This record gives sequence, C-alpha cells and structure tokens, in this order.
Amino acid sequence: MKTLVSGASGFIGGFLAEQLVASGHQVSCLVRKSSSLQYLNSLLVETRPGSLEDPDSLCAAVRDVEVVYHLAGVTAESRSGDFARVNSQGTANLVNACLTAGKKLKKFVYVSSIAAAGPAMDRTPLREEHPPRPLSLYGKSKLAGEEAAAAASHAFSVTIVRPPAVYGPRDRDILTFFKLIHSGIKPILLGGERYFNLIFVKDLVEGIALSASKMEEGCEIYYLSEERPYSWTEVMQTIESALGKRALPLPIPLFLLKTISHATHFISRWTGKSFPLTPDKVAEIEQRYWICDISKARNQLGFTAKTALEGGFFLTAEWYREQGWLSS
Ligand SMILES: NC(=O)c1ccc[n+]([C@@H]2O[C@H](COP(=O)([O-])OP(=O)(O)OC[C@H]3O[C@@H](n4cnc5c(N)ncnc54)[C@H](OP(=O)(O)O)[C@@H]3O)[C@@H](O)[C@H]2O)c1
Repeated sequence: MKTLVSGASGFIGGFLAEQLVASGHQVSCLVRKSSSLQYLNSLLVETRPGSLEDPDSLCAAVRDVEVVYHLAGVTAESRSGDFARVNSQGTANLVNACLTAGKKLKKFVYVSSIAAAGPAMDRTPLREEHPPRPLSLYGKSKLAGEEAAAAASHAFSVTIVRPPAVYGPRDRDILTFFKLIHSGIKPILLGGERYFNLIFVKDLVEGIALSASKMEEGCEIYYLSEERPYSWTEVMQTIESALGKRALPLPIPLFLLKTISHATHFISRWTGKSFPLTPDKVAEIEQRYWICDISKARNQLGFTAKTALEGGFFLTAEWYREQGWLSS
C-alpha cells in the first residue's frame, strides 16, 4: 500500500513509519523544513515537504497515496493558538487536501487522544459511544480534528484512534518522572489517588496499523490502550522497579500546581514565552479517572496491547540509560 504518515518525525509517528516499512508498505512522510530526520534517515521512506498550515503543500503530499496516517499535531502550545491552528485547522486542511487531491485515497486514520473525550466521571471507563466532554483546549482541538476527519467519511473510510498516555523509547514526557525518581524524588499528588490508562508506543503503532486494515465505509472510533488502568502510585512504583531505585515521596498539593500555572500563564502573556504547566494542563492533571475501555478494538480489530507496564517501563529505562538521557 502507498501510505503517507504525517508527524513521522515525532515520537509515535517515527515508530509507525518503522512498523509500516517492516510490514512491506511504501511509506512517505510529511516533514517540515525544520523537522528532525534523526530516526527517519535509517528507514526506507520517502520524505515529502509540507506543513499542516500550508494547504498547497498537503495537496502535493497526498496525491498518489491510498492510506493517510495523520499523527502530526501539537500536545503543548509554543505560541498561543497553536492547538486551534495545528490540531483543528491543520487537520481540516489535510482532510480537504485528501478530498480534492487524494484521488486514490481509501483510508484516513486520525490519531486523536483520550483528551478529545475528556476524563471519565467515575470508575466506569470511557467507551466510544459516550458523548465527548473535552476539558482542555488541547482536548477540544483534538475533538475538532476528529470532526473534520469524520465529515469526510462519505469520500473515504475514516478511522479515529484515541490513545491515552503513550510511553516508550524516545519519549520526553514520561522521561521527566524517570529523571525525578532517578534523582531520588517520587512526586505524589495530594487530593486522592488518580487512575489512568497507558500504552507502550510499539503496541500503539501496531494497533494504528491494524485499524487501517478495516476498510468499511463511514467512520469508526477506537480506544487503543493496555487493557487495565493503573493508579499513580503503581506507576511511580513501577518506574522505581524499572530503575532499580527507591525514591523519597514528595507530596505535591494541587493548589501549588495551580498557583505555579497561573503565575507562568501571566508571565507568558507578557513575554510570549510558553511554559509546559498551564492552567489547562493542571485541570487535566486534577482529574481522577483518565480511563478507557478497549473492548471495541479487541472485538472488532483483534487488538491487544502485548506489553504490560512493568515490561514497557523496563525497556524504556534501558533505552534512556543507553542514550544517556538519565544522567543530565
Ligand atoms: N504522546 C502521547 O502521549 C499522545 C497521547 C495521545 C495522543 N497523542 C497524539 O499523537 C500524535 C503524535 O504525538 P507525539 O507524542 O508523537 O508528538 P510529537 O513527538 O510532538 O510529534 C509531533 C509531530 O507533529 C509534527 N507537526 C507539528 N506541527 C506540525 C505542522 N504544523 N505541520 C506538519 N507537522 C507538524 C511534528 O513535526 P516537527 O518534527 O517538524 O516538529 C512531529 O512530527 C499527536 O497528534 C498527539 O495529539 C499523543
């Protein structure tokens, strides 16, 4: 199959490109001038220049492809409005390019996020049929991306996948917690236990590739995750085991995160500089249940995540060590 992967220079997209090449697909990657090709250079892929913010570049990129895997997006804003510009409008631009120039397109896979659905209200995991209630600007922008993709399902088959937290080699988000525990500190958020689903990146890309094989008309949504949720306490203990370290619990009151996020928000409005801990991010962290049910993906796609957290964190820690990412 001739495929195009957007976001292939990023964490998940890089592994997806690798997986597709290994399965014998012809892979093109949408890359910007500024994209790092560090992990793509060693793969047998074609690079196609383009940006989600440049509709003409997208028409050229999709012209002969049969499957588009759309992963490009922003998970944090470096400029105010990035979420809307890239995740919502950028996805609409890519969908429009597929409608006008993607003459051979059969399948559009959009990698959304559990954030598009919003948190579960209690211990009942989210299912695909539950109405979405995104909480953050990020979640709302991913939902708008889903809507743009779904609206094109009259022209080609659309699959939307919603991963929860994704971890594995090359990921810099969960690295923060590996580094903290490596340095002897285990952050514990006060105000009750939090539960969430996670998935190892290699399991996720297998699921994404699998989801593209279903060519039915219309639009389907799937949660892709490891089967069971984990508590924050378990996640921190599993990092300790993966690193072979015991760290000192550091209790963090929620009001402290809120105060810091409001202060940095104020600074960013004056300086234009963005900070990772936004009030929006804290609103997400505050939630107790980011949990989802993967029965639909299991039953309809035959999907299971093979890697349990313990093994996945072990592989991740090993990779971080090899790359020297834990020393600084
Ligand atoms: N990581 C997670 O835990 C997680 C969880 C759920 C869902 N997701 C979703 O999965 C997708 C991939 O996430 P990730 O963690 O792999 O992110 P990432 O490592 O930050 O990669 C983002 C990718 O998007 C590209 N991109 C950003 N803006 C673009 C634009 N204007 N035009 C073209 N390409 C652009 C980046 O290109 P450059 O290299 O040029 O910057 C990069 O290849 C995202 O859509 C995210 O919402 C991620």
